[in-house]
Amino acid sequence: MSVPENGKAHPIVHYGDPVLHRPCQKVTTFDDDLVTLIADMFASMYEAEGVGLAANQIGVDLSVFVMDIDDRKGGRAIGHIVNPVLEEQPPPRTLVTDSEGCLSVPGQYTDTARVDTATVSGYDMYGKPTTLTGEGYVARCLQHETDHLNGIVFVDRLPKKLRKKLLTEAGLSTERPAR
Ligand code: NI
Repeated sequence: MSVPENGKAHPIVHYGDPVLHRPCQKVTTFDDDLVTLIADMFASMYEAEGVGLAANQIGVDLSVFVMDIDDRKGGRAIGHIVNPVLEEQPPPRTLVTDSEGCLSVPGQYTDTARVDTATVSGYDMYGKPTTLTGEGYVARCLQHETDHLNGIVFVDRLPKKLRKKLLTEAGLSTERPAR
């Protein structure tokens, strides 16, 4: 999947901004503005040196994410998806715990449990149905970014004490705003 060119990098929104703490609006119009948004999201992700980015992380209330991630097996998972839905994995589901971080909680990484295989289904920028699927680190990214679009930041999945510690160390408010 290619990366649209000429994107413009936007500032990253941090934990505590209401746009990160509520579900994003579904995309209903697949037009040039959406292509521009996706180009800008890639540019913003690269400038911030991230491996995934959700639209609300640049303050846009739309259900879209992009990723460009080393799969740690010699490959690279690059793509975007609109209105993604995480498919339920049939049991037995294997949880893996590994280090996870987020551009919206700068500089903080901690062990987080995730299912080891994930598939999200949605649409590409032209409105064609598509899926993204991966294992391990890629699966972690797919779950992390889909969470963002549902209003969940990874630290919300951690014990309260640890969440407060990470947010404090990032210099952010420890209070999650009301939806
Ligand atoms: Ni994130």
